[in-house]
Amino acid sequence: MAENDRKPFSGVLWAGRLAEKPEAEAFAFQASIAVDSRLAQDDIRGSRAHAAMLGSQGIIAADMAAKLDAELERIAGELESGTLVIDTTAEDIHSFIEGILTERLGDAGRVVHAGRSRNDQVAVDFRLYLKHAVPELLAELATTIAALLDVAEKHTESLMPGYTHLQRAQPVTLGHHLAAWCAGLARDRSRFTDALNRLDECPLGAGALAGSGLPLDREATAKALGFARPTLNSMDSVADRDFALELSAACAITMTHLSRFCEDVVIWASEEFKFIDLAESWSTGSSIMPQKKNPDFAELIRGKSARTTGNVVTLLTLLKGLPYAYDKDLQEDKEALFDSIDTVRTCLRMFRGMMSGARFNTARMEAACTGGFLEATDAAEYLVRKGLPFRKAHEAAALVVRDCVAAGQSRIADRTLVDLKTRSALFEADIYDAIKPAACVAARKLCGGPAPDEVRRQIRVLRSLL
Ligand code: ARG
Repeated sequence: MAENDRKPFSGVLWAGRLAEKPEAEAFAFQASIAVDSRLAQDDIRGSRAHAAMLGSQGIIAADMAAKLDAELERIAGELESGTLVIDTTAEDIHSFIEGILTERLGDAGRVVHAGRSRNDQVAVDFRLYLKHAVPELLAELATTIAALLDVAEKHTESLMPGYTHLQRAQPVTLGHHLAAWCAGLARDRSRFTDALNRLDECPLGAGALAGSGLPLDREATAKALGFARPTLNSMDSVADRDFALELSAACAITMTHLSRFCEDVVIWASEEFKFIDLAESWSTGSSIMPQKKNPDFAELIRGKSARTTGNVVTLLTLLKGLPYAYDKDLQEDKEALFDSIDTVRTCLRMFRGMMSGARFNTARMEAACTGGFLEATDAAEYLVRKGLPFRKAHEAAALVVRDCVAAGQSRIADRTLVDLKTRSALFEADIYDAIKPAACVAARKLCGGPAPDEVRRQIRVLRSLL
């Protein structure tokens, strides 16, 4: 048999060129079906738009285009209902679906790939997937923010210590603290939205890298698939994974936020703090220590931020030094981003559930505002209001704190007015009201501050963003 008469082996899209199929283990190594089968519905949408365009451009017969569309719709339904099961020995989802089409339609199935490459196909599928997966994340973020704001709203007057260096710093409220978390999550939403806007371009028609000589209508397929426009440059279309990088970074930042919130929760749940009482159903026990009620959910969310950070590094490393345009390396992109998206989605849900079931020990939080001299800054500001330069006021208040420590007192209010006047003659009897924790909080009514009305305003602003 002459070289060119060899029958192509079946099951892959590139068998015409190669007479021998890789051995099973090698074939499985280069296959991606295990990861990209979640793109099945998006792949079918892309193929339907492409086939319809081939028909309307006269590249294939109109009745063939109609046949393809009907069969692709049927396949989508069968996959949805489970009557058609994805063959996990196929190379990838694109090969599997084209294979089923050809099996069922014969030559009609063989025309669908005209003017297309899996390089532009996978870029389209990935973007189509993200165009619905990312809005789902946005919704999870919105629900999480709303749930936290519900709690914050109830605690705009619940005093608690604010910390820097994990040392008691100044009194704030629980509402202020929770609104701080939400401000971060609100930025996360805008980051995802930005990335979504930038990825809203359709690579279909870019082919392997250089487009096609066939009269494809890229505007039409972009429009049919709900993209704002076709991508500008065919080489960039198949080489670009900026959208994956941006989204993986957005995921990692969201997870970093959750990780920090969870660290707060872990600290608050300790016997030493006891600010929060997690629900029993959102805690776990110990296999050996009978008394334990551990904040495992918070710890695991904190731990899972590691993998989303890792995925950003994976994608950056994947792209660095990759020659234009398409390289098979790019197949590694989806596993990393899918993992980040799955992780963020699950962790948001778990964090929300854990927080909604938690009870706050407001009496203990308020008590922690006494001792630790959280009122020292307010004592200094009291002197500033009376005309003392801040640096002198700071020193006077610091000396008062030293006096307290030397005398074994835990509050500035434990000093008599005579004592206080030895440090500044400007101290008067009204100092005692000014340095009560609630007064310290109420005085910080500037925009962004912890005063109850101001935090209510912050909560309204955060809600208006949802
Ligand atoms: N499975 C591949 C991916 O996930 C599809 C593109 C393959 N193209 C190629 N020339 N090998 O990226």
